[in-house]
Amino acid sequence: MRIAAVADLHYSPQTYDKIREQMLRVRDEADILVLAGDLTNYGRATEMDSLLTMLVRLRIPIVAVLGNHDFESGQQDELMKLMSAEGIKVLDGSGYERDDVGFAGTKGFPGGFGRGMLTAFGEPEVKAFVQTSIDEALKLERAMSQLRTERRVVVVHYSPISDTVKGEPQEIYPYLGNSRLAEVVDRHGANPVVHGHAHHGSPDGKTTAGIPVHNVALPILRATGIITPYRLFEV
Ligand SMILES: [Fe+2]
Ligand SMILES: [Fe+2]
Repeated sequence: MRIAAVADLHYSPQTYDKIREQMLRVRDEADILVLAGDLTNYGRATEMDSLLTMLVRLRIPIVAVLGNHDFESGQQDELMKLMSAEGIKVLDGSGYERDDVGFAGTKGFPGGFGRGMLTAFGEPEVKAFVQTSIDEALKLERAMSQLRTERRVVVVHYSPISDTVKGEPQEIYPYLGNSRLAEVVDRHGANPVVHGHAHHGSPDGKTTAGIPVHNVALPILRATGIITPYRLFEV
């Protein structure tokens, strides 16, 4: 199966105009399009409406997770409904199987990597933050255990590893993802993992167990000279 993946479209009519023509070619190059979060800028239903008009024209199956920007206006449930109504498979701690390939996805959350990972200690606010990070990892765990396919793709918005956020200021690494997601991926196995969020990160990395992780944020595709507004994978 040929997979086209991109994250961080941050849709506005002006920015989409720049990729509109190239996006139309996606159905010739891929069997499915994966959108790894930050589809909109402010998470407004009006933005999503406008983006969906463009996406349905692509006439390709679409799998997506939301990103933090899609939560900005508190309309995330409405956005998911709008997307589902257009046939988009929105993964929120859920799995989806198509042609013997499984997709497991969730948004993820910040929290930090490796020894720098924030732990649930001290103030209730810190514990609540860490708990959200744990909950997102549990959602990914649930999604992955639903899949019965041998080939599986993981879709998250936040990064599961620090390798693919390299290029961002080191001070903000903990806000760009967390290692708990990678622990889940390593337990269940997948190939590949795609994510976004770190617009100035690096395109490729690996989990501790050697599972390939790709940051498909649109600005990174641009920076690495990929001329299509998506990156292609064969699964
Ligand atoms: Fe983004
Ligand atoms: Fe983001």
